[in-house]
Amino acid sequence: MASKSNERIAATLIPGDGIGPEITQVTVDVLDALGAPFDWDLQLGGVAALEACGDPLPEATIQSLKRTRLGLKGPLTTPSGGGFRSVNVRLRETFELYANVRPARTIIPGRYENIDIVLVRENIEGFYVAHEHYIQVGDDPKAVAVSQGVNTRAGCLRIARFAFEYAVRHGRKKITVIHKANILKALTGIFLDAAREVAKDYEGRVRLDDRIVDACAMQLVLNPWQFDMLLCTNLFGDILSDQLAGLVGGLGLAPGSNIGKDAALFEAVHGSAPDIAGKGIANPVSQLLAAGLMLEHVGHDELARRLTDGIRTTLLEDNVRTADLGGKANTAEFARALIHRIA
Ligand code: NAI
Ligand code: MG
Repeated sequence: MASKSNERIAATLIPGDGIGPEITQVTVDVLDALGAPFDWDLQLGGVAALEACGDPLPEATIQSLKRTRLGLKGPLTTPSGGGFRSVNVRLRETFELYANVRPARTIIPGRYENIDIVLVRENIEGFYVAHEHYIQVGDDPKAVAVSQGVNTRAGCLRIARFAFEYAVRHGRKKITVIHKANILKALTGIFLDAAREVAKDYEGRVRLDDRIVDACAMQLVLNPWQFDMLLCTNLFGDILSDQLAGLVGGLGLAPGSNIGKDAALFEAVHGSAPDIAGKGIANPVSQLLAAGLMLEHVGHDELARRLTDGIRTTLLEDNVRTADLGGKANTAEFARALIHRIA
């Protein structure tokens, strides 16, 4: 999606729960300082929406995204076990946001240096369709839990094609498809087969290899540099993307995009961090990097570059860092230092 530099772009803004409003507010401030052309339509989602209007995914939020087809979202709290179904999953389904792209790049050299891996995760199928139920045995209504995963050939081919096209556009040379086809022969075998089928169209340009998910998890710790792009089913992608975040310094530095036919939604990989919410100390960099991906998505590569360069300089040269990165700055102080660099 290309746009002219002077055109305003309508976008939905969902601050979300926990640290969401804190990191989203400073992200909007930074984007303003950068001169990013977004006209925000502020909408609710998650627990914030449930409390305000009785629905964690209000119709107004859906309508806004239908109109703008573009959004920046804070993390949304999802109750574990019972409670309402994940709003993130519902948004991905409603807008067919089938591709979850999570780049992991070293900014601050730590345990690992020069990590540069892009994970592409299938975002609406697999175990996240949540065909789940309990079976009663005797007087225990929850004696047995059953979950069914669903992967379709069409869905697998679509995400594989997306990954290869991404590789071509971004000059990446190798895709490693992640599976467990030795055990989940059907559910993840269909994914592996689809990747191999699509790979034929890219021979000589992008190489395909494959790993079993558990072996990949180990190799990511021992030698992450062997990987260029990972192509994952929904559950494995969720898990391995947090692992990638760990390789580059934690969840405070990991952005993601959800790309689909009908919309694109940008967010941090991390959740609402209830343990630090309301304290003003959250690291806003993941959300800021997500905003950078959003700028690229609408064709503002130069603004995206200025933003990411500014983040690097603030972290590395000015040494302004939040507590999760061993620093003393709070959220607002980091944002002020960044704005000083980019304005
Ligand atoms: P989490 O990612 O919220 O937190 C894990 C740990 O990382 C916590 O110790 C937290 O303080 C820390 N952390 C996360 N982001 C940080 C940041 N920006 N700066 C500094 N520290 C940060 O994961 P958790 O605790 O498992 O989940 C909390 C809630 O978030 C749950 O309700 C979960 O469902 C939801 N969630 C939502 C996501 C989304 O909306 N995309 C993604 C992941 C979880
Ligand atoms: Mg996750």
